[in-house]
Amino acid sequence: MPESLVVVIDGPAGAGKSTIAKLLARKLGVAFMDTGAMYRALTVKALREKVDLEDEAALVALAQRTHIDLVNEPGKALQVLLDGADVSEAIRSIEVTNNTFYIARTPGVRHVMVEWQRTMGARRSMVGDGRDLGTVVFPNATYKFYLDADFNVRCQRRIDELKAKGQQVDEEALKKDLAERDEHDFTRKVGPLKKADDAILVDSTGMTVAQVVEFLAGRIRNT
Ligand code: C5P
Repeated sequence: MPESLVVVIDGPAGAGKSTIAKLLARKLGVAFMDTGAMYRALTVKALREKVDLEDEAALVALAQRTHIDLVNEPGKALQVLLDGADVSEAIRSIEVTNNTFYIARTPGVRHVMVEWQRTMGARRSMVGDGRDLGTVVFPNATYKFYLDADFNVRCQRRIDELKAKGQQVDEEALKKDLAERDEHDFTRKVGPLKKADDAILVDSTGMTVAQVVEFLAGRIRNT
């Protein structure tokens, strides 16, 4: 069996990682692994079961009795299954978005997540997006990218995305939330957001989605 192709894209919220990773995966004909969706799915369960989000042991126990699956079907959006039930919509609520940092900052939970992600990566070729894929989860990934963009551009992309879905957007609140998520991501003790030394930095501030996908695909073709 040839080794699987593992392409990782890390970066801050709103840089376009999921959109790019999904399109790149499709272009390369491999699976898409949205690791943020996994942290979000566990947050959904913690909120539903009213687990104390400050209780580290309870969160780790929760992770250990949970099964999260990402289902890739050609031509369909990625399906996120929490213990077999589809939570693809539920994981995108503002409540979940703003509470995921409790799950993400808990070392024991990250440990469980990293194991799940490595198992998925070993099973098949894939493009994954997250925060710690190049540094912690897949230090030997075939290709590593760090996707960044100016803070205001990241905010505007999120605003446009929500408006396109017909949602009302409180722009000031969204900017505050994104700044807080950056703060959590960069300062977390375990698995903080950090560019891997050998990752290729891509500043997508002035680039379209198509340009970023083409740039990444080009780097992969030419090495
Ligand atoms: O990428 P997305 O915004 O969906 O991620 C949701 C949250 O999960 C992020 O705010 C981040 O804190 C966390 N996360 C993480 N490690 C990853 C992916 C996401 O801590 N590999």
